Amino acid sequence: MWKWLVMAGAVIILAWLLIPSEKDKSEYTLGQLLFFDPNLSSNGTKSCASCHSPDFAFTDGYRKSVGAFGDASEFNAPGLLDLDRREFFSWRDTTRKSLYEAVERPFFAHPKELGWKAEDTTDILFYVKNNNIYRPLISENFWWSSLIEELEKYLLNIPTGNSVFEKQLREKNEMDSLTAKGFEVFASRKKCITCHTLESFNFSNHLVKSSRNILFDNYKYQTPNLRNVLLTAPYMHDGHIGNISDAIRHNTPLSDEEQKAIIHFLSLLTDTTYLSNPIYKNPF
Ligand code: HEC
Ligand code: HEC
Repeated sequence: MWKWLVMAGAVIILAWLLIPSEKDKSEYTLGQLLFFDPNLSSNGTKSCASCHSPDFAFTDGYRKSVGAFGDASEFNAPGLLDLDRREFFSWRDTTRKSLYEAVERPFFAHPKELGWKAEDTTDILFYVKNNNIYRPLISENFWWSSLIEELEKYLLNIPTGNSVFEKQLREKNEMDSLTAKGFEVFASRKKCITCHTLESFNFSNHLVKSSRNILFDNYKYQTPNLRNVLLTAPYMHDGHIGNISDAIRHNTPLSDEEQKAIIHFLSLLTDTTYLSNPIYKNPF
């Protein structure tokens, strides 16, 4: 008798362990769910995070991103840090002036990104409004603009400013000699800083002024943010440069010594504080 009871008990416990339980999504934020949800693409294959993965500093490791139907995007996926400091939101398109437009764009970049045809917002909204995961988190008045604004909020909250180099500057710590040299080459000797400015390691206006100069290919594209640059290969608007040593020499010759110092300096711009915040983990 006891034997049977023990066996029945063991079977029940085993079944409980084996039957997959629906993960409780209530601990997740709305922006996080939207950002990681592949059902926001027209065929359920790609989410924002597929191309902007927190594990690759919000890029994807491809030369050019791959969309829902396997087509190459036009560009290399940019990291999504420091978006509050931007004047426009594209490698090239200076008319894309709001973050709202940049967040809305991938949905309808058919077929290259999330794969919807324009004006398909009703299907996406229908999915979100009728899904158990989302229902407790949204109100009756949740519209397309609410969805985009949630994603905007999510992106603007990504913490930055905690790289070793910034901490050193804030705390006025003395730099070791290699760091000091790297910074000196970056800022004074080779003037990388005129384009990759220090405040945000980003310089948006340059493109507007010089895009007419077709002889200098570099000037046709926005200067990328160098925060986390050691994590975001391949490089450039089209990902054609595979490693950091070649990327830093893209328009300036450097000696081996200068190159080593700059790479060391750039490594100190690594800032992955966001990884310790569970809202930047995949909830699905
Ligand atoms: C298939 C890959 C792919 C998907 C999916 C994707 N993106 Fe992107 N994203 C890109 C590429 C490529 C660019 C660069 C576009 C350009 O420069 O014109 C970009 C640019 C951006 C930018 C502008 C950043 C900048 O520095 O200018 C934002 C913001 C952005 N994406 C957010 C999102 C959000 C939010 C989602 C989900 C709704 C998303 N992306 C889905 C590939 C993708
Ligand atoms: C005249 C402005 C300018 C100067 C000076 C400049 N850069 Fe750049 N940098 C750019 C532009 C524009 C790009 C993107 C070009 C493209 O996508 O084709 C870029 C790209 C890069 C990249 C690739 C980043 C990525 O995410 O793809 C690195 C790394 C880089 N620059 C480092 C440096 C270093 C180090 C120096 C100094 C030795 C320097 N740059 C000088 C404008 C400049």
